[in-house]
Amino acid sequence: MEQQIKDLRKQVEEALQNVKDKNDLANFWQNFLSKKGSIPNLMKGLGSVAKEARPAMGKLINEFRDEVTKQYEKIQTILEEKELEERNKTEQVDITMPAKKRPSGSLHPITITKNQMVDVFAGMGFEIFEGPEIEDDDHNFTSLNVAKNHPARDMQDTFYITEDILLRTHTSPGQIRVMNSEKPPIKVLVPGRVFRSDSDATHSPQFHQMEGLVVDKGITLCDLQGMLDEFVKKIFGSEVKTRLRPSYFPFTEPSVEVDVSCFECGGKGCSLCKGTGWIEILGGGIVHHKVLENCGIDPTVYSGLAFGIGIERIAMLKYGINNIGLLYENDLRFLKQFKD
Ligand code: DAH
Repeated sequence: MEQQIKDLRKQVEEALQNVKDKNDLANFWQNFLSKKGSIPNLMKGLGSVAKEARPAMGKLINEFRDEVTKQYEKIQTILEEKELEERNKTEQVDITMPAKKRPSGSLHPITITKNQMVDVFAGMGFEIFEGPEIEDDDHNFTSLNVAKNHPARDMQDTFYITEDILLRTHTSPGQIRVMNSEKPPIKVLVPGRVFRSDSDATHSPQFHQMEGLVVDKGITLCDLQGMLDEFVKKIFGSEVKTRLRPSYFPFTEPSVEVDVSCFECGGKGCSLCKGTGWIEILGGGIVHHKVLENCGIDPTVYSGLAFGIGIERIAMLKYGINNIGLLYENDLRFLKQFKD
């Protein structure tokens, strides 16, 4: 048995000298140290050793195994260090190189404008309500006092899905939805996407509006003018003035068109205001008593004001954009100019 150990030790020494890489080392472990390897195998031969000599021989084998294991581990560490060193040589990082800049995105001009508008009205105590883009004829027209065959339906070229279901042509149906579900006092803002079969330099089949509705006791046109005046000054500058002109909408009476004094020329007349000194920005009025009645609100007790603003129109005026299509093309050269 002792001779066997001696022979094996010689083999181990030779084998260790030939270990050049991880693969060789794994083979070495397999041959000598694994469960079926030659060193643990020695234990099996203990049966043929005289009983008194067995403990001493067992100890010898264990010591031999520990010794070889230590050698194995030493070589393992050396090989790992060598490997790491080589990897470090090929993977060197130059920490003085300039960092890669990641391009940062920014909000779309329509979103920036919408957020600014919401901020102004939120400061006056308005809450946000959002209605569905697919509407029924009743909310979009009939409850808003636009009866079937009413000539005002021609004002809005509508995308119909069925005879009764359509893509909303304005955010005004949001007024009906709010009044049907809430009691006055009401003060809501309804931003959203709307759709009309219309397309040219200043019109797109899909655009955005922001509706405002206030219903309470004693609401008058003065409240509307005051709120919109404040809105205009916050968006276009404190020197800009507001003007109300009589107009017509089926859901308001009286109805008004709101103009602002031209912020480009200060009112003298230029190409932006087409020489008039004024720019039309939105429509509004006092909520028609029939609309209040349609929603179960008593017009002898309550009155309301409403307005609808085109978000693209405000964005185009604010940023001097002359073609609405630019807002939807998502050309980065255009979009990169808008950082909030
Ligand atoms: N819904 C109108 C449109 O799309 C805009 C509008 C006008 C909304 C007057 C209103 C309003 O609430 O009172 O042209």
